[in-house]
Amino acid sequence: MKSSFWWSNAVVYQIYPRSFFDSNDDGEGDLKGISEKLPYVRDLGVDAIWLSPFYLSPNRDGGYDIADPRQVDPRIGTLKDVKELIDKAHALHLKVIFDVVPNHFSDQHHWFQEALVTPSGSAERQRFHFYPGKDAQHPPNNWISLFGGPAWTQVDDGEWYLHLFDSSQPDLNWSNPEVRHDFEKTLRYWLDLGVDGFRIDVAHGLAKEKIQSDHPNPQELSDALRLDVKMEVDKRNSLLASVPYFDREGVHEIYREWRKVFDTYEKPILSVAEAWVHPPARALRYIRSDELRQIFNFDLLIAPFDAQILYDSISSTLTLFETIDALPTWALSNHDSPRLASRVGSEPSARALALTVMALPGSMYIYQGQELGLPDAHLEDSEREDPVFIRTKGKQLGRDAARVPLPWRNGNKSFGFTRGKPWLPIPPEWDGLTVESQEKNPSSSLAFYRRIIAQRALLNNQESDFHWLARDLSHGLLAFQRGNISVYLNTSPLDATIELRLSEKIRLTSHSNNQIVDSLLTLVSGSCVWLEK
Ligand code: GLC
Ligand code: CA
Repeated sequence: MKSSFWWSNAVVYQIYPRSFFDSNDDGEGDLKGISEKLPYVRDLGVDAIWLSPFYLSPNRDGGYDIADPRQVDPRIGTLKDVKELIDKAHALHLKVIFDVVPNHFSDQHHWFQEALVTPSGSAERQRFHFYPGKDAQHPPNNWISLFGGPAWTQVDDGEWYLHLFDSSQPDLNWSNPEVRHDFEKTLRYWLDLGVDGFRIDVAHGLAKEKIQSDHPNPQELSDALRLDVKMEVDKRNSLLASVPYFDREGVHEIYREWRKVFDTYEKPILSVAEAWVHPPARALRYIRSDELRQIFNFDLLIAPFDAQILYDSISSTLTLFETIDALPTWALSNHDSPRLASRVGSEPSARALALTVMALPGSMYIYQGQELGLPDAHLEDSEREDPVFIRTKGKQLGRDAARVPLPWRNGNKSFGFTRGKPWLPIPPEWDGLTVESQEKNPSSSLAFYRRIIAQRALLNNQESDFHWLARDLSHGLLAFQRGNISVYLNTSPLDATIELRLSEKIRLTSHSNNQIVDSLLTLVSGSCVWLEK
């Protein structure tokens, strides 16, 4: 039996503050808006909320460029609002997780401003990665930023600083004890205020190696890191096996220090790493008993709607986690990826996939709007803000389409998100997708999510062993048993209904045409059922 914490089987709801709910009508979501809508989140049945960054930020990368990690951005609220939000969430039995961004600061952080006006080699510069170039025109190495373009920018006196992301996000130098102390202060600051844990941004990136050497294939490596670029598996594997700035041994010492900080608090603190590692078994190193508690598993975030691929991915994750005293995590969407309904091609398939994953052991992260079945929004190029779009000069569209504000009510252009002008326009065709219209409709995506989260909670309360059932992957059938529930998913393309002889009853279905008549289950394509004896 694995040890059990509040997060072990939790459903965590990710809130992107800028796009959740606007309480003061300036067009951007805020903390008061989140507090106001917490009953909506509670009614979903989730266990916790994760807030994307709300700290002081010039917002060049949606708040992931932080100018002061211990200050609330006045556009989003005040410290008092944070405290009220935590208290209100706790009163509603919701845990609260904040996002921390240790890999970089914003260039507006006073540390970086000081580094700019002090000479080469100064203590101020050593908080970041400042180096002389290979020569006057060439950066110290050929690394490419994850947002496109060079990973180095030159300052007035000729030195260069490293930024794995936007040039406004200088990477911090984690081999400098000052950086470590400052970060510990940040963790304690929010823990003392009552937060229940942290999501750690780019958790695999803090330790850099070979910082003054060229990479042999920087462009290939950069393609390999982009999951939307097709590449032969072996080639990708060999490129990802040793990236000089990701998943280096040095990161683990940092998390061991953090764990000591977390363990000084009476309640158990959740820490979940956003770490893309390769091969997958390396994930377990982040959750060793003296390190972090969870690591995101992004396999299903990118997996196509295909029984064979889903089987491979789910079974390899479960097999991996069987060896340790922890459970996996699952995510179908987040603020960095296309919206689920658009990615899998339709809202019904999105429901089928969610129902399947809801039955798995471990914790499930859902991204605001996923419960509404929202698709990616169509945006004009002039409306896009993502540095990915800007730095690749439009070659990659970036992530704005998944960050459009939530539609709450029917009847006007801003759908009750704000009485001002939403910072990104909400598509007029989302009229039928508002919370208001879905709450009235028992067959809506929202009503469906409420049902499946409630049923999942019941499932988690039992001793619920997992095993695979006879399956027919080549015909799109994936089936497994968890506790007294068996789950059948049909991923086959249109009109390939599957029929199965069974002696069970339907407990939940993602599609109203699924039925059992005379012990014969009809499972329409792109759908899932939970059956019980
Ligand atoms: C993480 C965040 C992403 C951000 C990047 C840089 O991947 O999820 O939104 O742009 O880190 O901080
Ligand atoms: Ca606002």
